[in-house]
Amino acid sequence: MADYKITLLKGDGIGPEIVDQAVKVLNKAADKFGFTVEYDEALLGGCAIDATGVPLPDETIAKCKVSDSVLLGAVGGPKWDNLPGSVRPEAGLLGIRGALGLFANLRPSVIFGPLKSASPIKDEIIGDKMDILIVRELTGGIYFGERGRGEVNGSPAAWDTEKYSVAEIERIARVAFDMAMKRGKKLTSVDKANVLESSRLWRKTVIEVSKDYPEVELNHLYVDNCAMQLVRNPKQFDVIVTSNIFGDILSDEASMIAGSIGMLASASLSGGKLGLYEPIHGSAPDIAGLGIANPLATILSVAMMFRYSLEQNEAADAIEAAVAKVLETDRTPDIYEKGMNKVSCEQMGDLVCEAL
Ligand code: NAD
Ligand code: IPM
Ligand code: MN
Repeated sequence: MADYKITLLKGDGIGPEIVDQAVKVLNKAADKFGFTVEYDEALLGGCAIDATGVPLPDETIAKCKVSDSVLLGAVGGPKWDNLPGSVRPEAGLLGIRGALGLFANLRPSVIFGPLKSASPIKDEIIGDKMDILIVRELTGGIYFGERGRGEVNGSPAAWDTEKYSVAEIERIARVAFDMAMKRGKKLTSVDKANVLESSRLWRKTVIEVSKDYPEVELNHLYVDNCAMQLVRNPKQFDVIVTSNIFGDILSDEASMIAGSIGMLASASLSGGKLGLYEPIHGSAPDIAGLGIANPLATILSVAMMFRYSLEQNEAADAIEAAVAKVLETDRTPDIYEKGMNKVSCEQMGDLVCEAL
């Protein structure tokens, strides 16, 4: 029997090509650090709709539940954009997050040394390094609140509801405070408490939880200000904790500071061992099949899997070091700079394996 059982959800668009590269790196790391991995594949998203009629077949949930970890590419694409919301590929992604109880999404935004000049933000603003951890609540808020269609004053209308319970806010706040304790002991809670009732409860609850973490310096920002501050002075941030929808938006913004959305990994955790690991980007339909997608966000998600689910810290460090080394000379088009070798998705996967 293998040491670890990993379920692959390759998904749609660039999903299969980036997951294939990440699996190559995973296998190389397993060889090097002396453990074995067994894979199972399952359907999620558009490919699941095509094969079974639904974006999240029961079999997919069952396979994920019996694995040590799940690696996901991305889901969605124009082919499925006109389906009703509850049966779109994205509903499958929300479904698997809900079904596995993955309430905590860690999205580190780190600039790998050689990529500093690929960031659109000036060197002096970035400073020696950028290392922000966004902790995004992942199974609540407007993504999971009541929604509907009806009529308002005789006009067709639609609504979605942002709703958070104290229990939901407390558990994500604890994850963020725990992370801050292991890092720079600074936590920024992001909300829209000047307008939203749910944000006022969010802020009050985070302040309550902070009493258990006297060493962590806590501050609060409104989300609009935070979006601006990320570009004005990213150095001020250590850990950011925020709601599902704000975390979605802010993490895409933070990814560009780090050079490209193709660089940002994520871990979705439940508090137990099982985690789902995925790049923060989508299925990139505009470049799917061209072989030019950046697989590093997915490869770095494997490093997060080693760290947070499989207790293989050395392998995680080794993957991150290999990525940093390759970036000194080789770049996919999204992070290409003059004087570097321009490489394909597959070549990037091979280069990281060699560097390992
Ligand atoms: P996207 O992240 O797929 O793409 C945005 C832009 O970034 C595109 O120009 C794309 O080419 C580029 N990009 C993304 N990943 C890249 C990579 N690895 N290398 C190089 N360039 C990359 O976002 P979108 O276009 O808004 O959404 C496309 C589809 O993906 C939609 O169906 C959306 O719902 C879905 N989506 C899925 C996930 C997920 O599965 N986790 C996340 C976001 C979006
Ligand atoms: C992400 C994506 C998803 C989200 C979509 C595809 C449901 O944008 O993982 O960031 O909004 O959570
Ligand atoms: Mn997103």
